[in-house]
Amino acid sequence: MEQTLSPALPATLYPPSEATVQRARISGRAAYDRLVAEAEADPDAYWGRLARELIAWKQPFTQVLDQRRAPFFEWFADGTLNASYNCLDRQVENGLGEKTAIVFEADDGAVTRISYQDLLARVCRTANVLKSLGVGRGDRVVIYMAMSIDGVVAMQACARIGAIHSVVFGGFSAQSLRDRIADTGAVMVLTADQQVRGGKQLPLKAIVDEALVLGGCDSVRHVLVTRRTGGAVPFQAPRDQWMADLAAAQPPTCEPEWVNAEHPLFLLYTSGSTGKPKGVQHATGGYLLHAALTCQWTFDLGPEDVFWCTADIGWVTGHTYIAYGPLAIGATQVVFEGVPTYPDAGRFWKMIQDHKVSVFYTAPTAIRSLIKMAEGNDAVHPRHYDLSSLRILGSVGEPINPAAWEWYHRHVGGGRCPVLDTFWQTETGGHMITPLPGVTPLVPGSCTLPFPGIDAAVVDEAGNELPWGQGGILVVRKPWPSMIRTIWNDPERFKASYYPEEFQGRYYLAGDGAIRDKTTGYFTITGRIDDVLNVSGHRMGTMEIESALVAMTDLVAEAAVVGRPDDTTGEAVCAFVVLKRPLPSGDEARRIADQLRNWVGKEIGPIAKPRDIRFGDNLPKTRSGKIMRRLLRTLAKGEAVTQDVSTLENPAVLEQLGQPY
Ligand code: WTA
Repeated sequence: MEQTLSPALPATLYPPSEATVQRARISGRAAYDRLVAEAEADPDAYWGRLARELIAWKQPFTQVLDQRRAPFFEWFADGTLNASYNCLDRQVENGLGEKTAIVFEADDGAVTRISYQDLLARVCRTANVLKSLGVGRGDRVVIYMAMSIDGVVAMQACARIGAIHSVVFGGFSAQSLRDRIADTGAVMVLTADQQVRGGKQLPLKAIVDEALVLGGCDSVRHVLVTRRTGGAVPFQAPRDQWMADLAAAQPPTCEPEWVNAEHPLFLLYTSGSTGKPKGVQHATGGYLLHAALTCQWTFDLGPEDVFWCTADIGWVTGHTYIAYGPLAIGATQVVFEGVPTYPDAGRFWKMIQDHKVSVFYTAPTAIRSLIKMAEGNDAVHPRHYDLSSLRILGSVGEPINPAAWEWYHRHVGGGRCPVLDTFWQTETGGHMITPLPGVTPLVPGSCTLPFPGIDAAVVDEAGNELPWGQGGILVVRKPWPSMIRTIWNDPERFKASYYPEEFQGRYYLAGDGAIRDKTTGYFTITGRIDDVLNVSGHRMGTMEIESALVAMTDLVAEAAVVGRPDDTTGEAVCAFVVLKRPLPSGDEARRIADQLRNWVGKEIGPIAKPRDIRFGDNLPKTRSGKIMRRLLRTLAKGEAVTQDVSTLENPAVLEQLGQPY
């Protein structure tokens, strides 16, 4: 950490511009080094100082980190606060009541603005509705809504009354929604009649209805529905009610429920390498601190900025960098309902132009597909839009390849704006390894250096730190405030997944590989080291998709799923399937492949549909019966098999599996 940047840096290094350094909250490498040194010398003092500066506490904490139950670390545990108070009331009290909190742009381009004071009133009315129906501290509320002000209001309303929200991405199927409702034991589901994306109306409430009859959802007493399209939806009294009718009858104020810092703020389900998705549990105090802090330091958000994070509230990025972080620091942000390609692939650029967005945060997969579109149709190239309001660009969710990085930097950022490749995870709550705009010279393809206070390292299998230049396993050695607290209903799985025995439970295991540059110490993430795929920035377990396939019991005997590289989506899902019937070919194989795809879409959601499906009489296995996944990955890429296949029971199967449908 003490090393300074040597002159022998790669030629592609982009130093921060003088203007960025001048303006940034954290300016220059020395300022960064001072923060890192402060955090290293006394982590409790460092995080304690920041928690006092950034968070309004009802009752101040007396202890910063409590390690007694490690790895179930506790932060600021005897302090009390309310996340919604911090995000809304505090801004109104500080004179920002009339400031625009959210600029909402609907799919059809209609724009709605809401000020901090109006957002507060709406959150309070909604919170009062929840309370009037008996929802309170610690109750779980599942939110199945699209991108909207109402979605943010729903999350904030839960936080206000101490209820624990669990947002389920609106693209997940009834089955996935059911699994999450059942695991959380939710008492209420908040949804909308329909959602609108790319000019199409898609169901939400109807999918909730479907989920609730799949069994295991008896805990749900109420379903409250927001009106988006006015499309006809079936109502089941007395369970279902319109949110607007109930909210209109409620007062616009609601005393926040003061909770302990460790009180769960939300559960968010994400894929692991084994079993069902796990409910990542975040705590109120530490999470909110890092959400606010990273908005200030990474995005350098200030009063005159217009921030736009294009993520969906169904993912962690939409939690930290839409629902909480920007509001906690009183920023103005854009929330977008639609898709980047509707009505055309210039939509993002037009919105940046129209709303004078200054800090823009999106995913590599979006950039890659917009590059392709711009290459096919010059009219949607960013150069035709006035993007001069931009000053900082961010990327998240998956590695950004240098070519996409350069394009983003040059054509979107006009060569002026730093591109921040932010590495983090659902479990980490906020940025872990990321450039800071006024500090870090950038190298395309690298997330550069740890956020001050984050003790990231690359280690070998025994947990020993590796020299720079040697690839290994990414770990975090010290706990940090916004870390995952546990897996809902499964503390043992939390320990086994994140604080495994291999490292004697000392280090947080991210599940990614990484390598540090020999001279700069910059980190590059080399991808997951477990069976988790990343398709368009969406995490999926190969096992989840395999279980969905084999659940088709009359058709599928066995299935194995691997990822293969894809230019646009990062990775694509490839399924290898053994059927309970003779090997199909031609049209029949195509028909069955479609049937399997639709089934996976129904079981998990459209994002999990396999791109390629390959059929074989059996799967390549070792003599001990283990599926040879490395070999499958080679086949998936369409590369020649160079692995030793002498142990294969049936080498002829390789030819069969070579044909994708
Ligand atoms: C990957 C999203 C490379 C990584 C915030 C991680 C990245 C997983 C980056 C978490 C990045 C995220 N560079 N890889 N900048 N950001 N990842 O939980 O594999 O949806 O473990 O959180 O995405 O995905 P998740």
